[in-house]
Amino acid sequence: MAQIAPSILSADFARLGEDVAAVERAGVKMIHVDVMDGHFVPNISIGVPVVASLRKATDLFLDCHLMIENPDAYTPAFIAAGAQNVTIHQEATRHLHRSLQLIKDHGAQAGVALNPATPVETIDHVLDLVDLVLVMSVNPGFGGQKFLPLALSKIEQLAELRQALGLSFKIEVDGGVDSSNIADLTRAGCDIFVAGSSIFGTPDAAQAVESLKERIASAHVVHV
Ligand code: DX5
Ligand code: ZN
Repeated sequence: MAQIAPSILSADFARLGEDVAAVERAGVKMIHVDVMDGHFVPNISIGVPVVASLRKATDLFLDCHLMIENPDAYTPAFIAAGAQNVTIHQEATRHLHRSLQLIKDHGAQAGVALNPATPVETIDHVLDLVDLVLVMSVNPGFGGQKFLPLALSKIEQLAELRQALGLSFKIEVDGGVDSSNIADLTRAGCDIFVAGSSIFGTPDAAQAVESLKERIASAHVVHV
């Protein structure tokens, strides 16, 4: 089942509860939370207290994307605050297997993210451990950037690997996702679509979710 994960990075932080409630009414099942430390990426966003507040405000699944160095020092706190999935970057930890295992040991789902320049082969040996692979379709750090089409072939590669290996990890895409590329991403094999500016950057977030859902549904219609 395809899922849209609105990224609150583009929400109004002073009205975060209302923005989340709007997309919840539009039927989304998860919220994407972008955590940036000003070191791994050249921007600072939000941290554990915001996850704890979101946890009180909504029952939606909280999908936390840690764009931070030394994730092991923080993953337990994010999970204790209410993160149900923690995704860490392949590039941000020296001991990827251990870092992913730490997330699982604390009771959350574990995701691994790949920057645009990082090949899929670098995570071959953790594919059986992860619940999710996040393919970055922009260089992480900012919302509102242009989609990099190289993500499509990485998603196709992951979908083929998943089938060949009999695994069930989800494939998520993040960055520049909008109504112009979401059908192609669906056909490539993507399951979860993170979208920030194309949802919260519009006047009507709920309507934007509906439009994206329609485009996903249309991806499988054969036009004759
Ligand atoms: C970028 C973040 C994204 C971002 C996406 O580093 O990981 O989740 O919020 O924003 P848009 O959809 O505007 O590209
Ligand atoms: Zn993200």
